[in-house]
Amino acid sequence: MQRVKLTINEREVEVPVGSTILQAAEMVGIDIPRLCHDPDLKPMGSCRLCVVEVKGNRLLPASCVTPVTEGMEVQTESPAVVEARRTILELLVANHPLDCMTCDKLGDCRLADYCYRYNVKESVFTGEQHHYDIDDSNPFIIRDLNKCILCGACVRACEEMTGKDNLSYLYRGFDRKATTAGDVDYIDSDCVFCGQCVAVCPTGALTEKTMAGQARRWEIERVQTTCPFCGIGCNFDLAVKDKKVIGVLSNPNAPVNGRKLCVKGRFGWDYIYSDKRLKTPLIKKNGKFEPASWDEAFDLIAQKFNENKAKNGPDSFAALSSARCVNEANYLVQKFTRAVMGTNNVDHCARVCHAPSVAGLANSFGSGAMTNVLSEVTNDAELLFLIGINPTEAYPVAGYIMRQAVRNGCKLVVCDPRRTELAAESDIWLQQKHGTDIPLLNGLMHIIIKEGLEDKKFIEERTENFEEMKKVAAEYTPERVSEITGISVEDLYRVARLYATTDKAMIFYSLGITEHICG
Ligand code: FES
Repeated sequence: MQRVKLTINEREVEVPVGSTILQAAEMVGIDIPRLCHDPDLKPMGSCRLCVVEVKGNRLLPASCVTPVTEGMEVQTESPAVVEARRTILELLVANHPLDCMTCDKLGDCRLADYCYRYNVKESVFTGEQHHYDIDDSNPFIIRDLNKCILCGACVRACEEMTGKDNLSYLYRGFDRKATTAGDVDYIDSDCVFCGQCVAVCPTGALTEKTMAGQARRWEIERVQTTCPFCGIGCNFDLAVKDKKVIGVLSNPNAPVNGRKLCVKGRFGWDYIYSDKRLKTPLIKKNGKFEPASWDEAFDLIAQKFNENKAKNGPDSFAALSSARCVNEANYLVQKFTRAVMGTNNVDHCARVCHAPSVAGLANSFGSGAMTNVLSEVTNDAELLFLIGINPTEAYPVAGYIMRQAVRNGCKLVVCDPRRTELAAESDIWLQQKHGTDIPLLNGLMHIIIKEGLEDKKFIEERTENFEEMKKVAAEYTPERVSEITGISVEDLYRVARLYATTDKAMIFYSLGITEHICG
């Protein structure tokens, strides 16, 4: 990789070509203030707080959008830079409520942090101020546009992280607003309450409703955990105050999802404190459940297990586990069952959902699990072929990632009797009749083989029983498949050709395939 040498605050720095001044400064631990810049979003260069002085440049360029050049000499805290930043902050504060004492974001508000850093207590600019109503129309997010600094992070997050496009800029000049289409409350908009806008907001304009008045940000302990709701395995931090969960915060280092979360992961944690949950073990005595200590419960369980094993043998015991548990917990269940109880009678609810995946994938690829990682969807895929899967509802973060891929130019084919969100956004939607998935897939293979588009070398070297499959596919002519599935012959050809001629095509299926008896 080509590199560029420059100096920042008299320090020699060498960084890859194409880096911005801000990135170069970060690489050597120099902190440049920024409000609209967000590492997960496309640069916007609108707030100008990141300006720096570059020798020979009459203006102060915004470091977040200015690439480094060979020999560049940069000053990040020169008197001119500091004065410019103070003026920008004074302009922002001129139309910003100074209610930091009661603002939930204090301690995690970049505007307040920079005002402190540059000693901006109030504004020298006086004039009209906005007095917007606070939007707390929904159970999850408080939107106080009086605190919005128009950095556009929420607009970009809604577009780039989820592809939902629920937010944009409306109006002009002083009245400019980052808001919903039609400037309606969140509850009346297309918002799905994933809270990405909250995660990227640098001020108190967008905050978590559950956390309102619960804690100052510095009192919150972050406890990393894994979301139990779907198979994506998103990580996030529980916000904990005095040993009580008060909310969920994105963790930028989450390996699968980064700061992306869906409404279930970010806001669906209140069941923790449901009064319907057991808070203590219950032991049935004289036909009635009575609260017991954990020691009492475990002693009784061990005693009964041992008695049963002695009397009826190890195979009289079976353990059932759940997809709601993390892999580690499931591993422990099977370990306990096999090593302690001495039986292989261990099962899991995924048998209902994914027995076909396990059997089919293990036979085909040697492992009954997903064969690609999600980052390959955004970075590598050229075509996504979806059948029996509705990602934006069932696995929203995977849905966001697929949308990102499509916006990067990847083609999308969705086979689904329903017009799901992604079906509506696809290049081709095949609306097969219910129960006709297999004829549809056989029909596509028929066309691929008929047109000689199959990968002959791969089939020769890496597969078995191709001739058997070919015989089956031969029976599924496009005309017959069209009659069975309700899909036009023309669309069958379009999809078969597109799939077979795309180098990096990925197939996605889920319970819409695997929960069928023929899965
Ligand atoms: Fe660079 Fe806003 S952070 S212009």
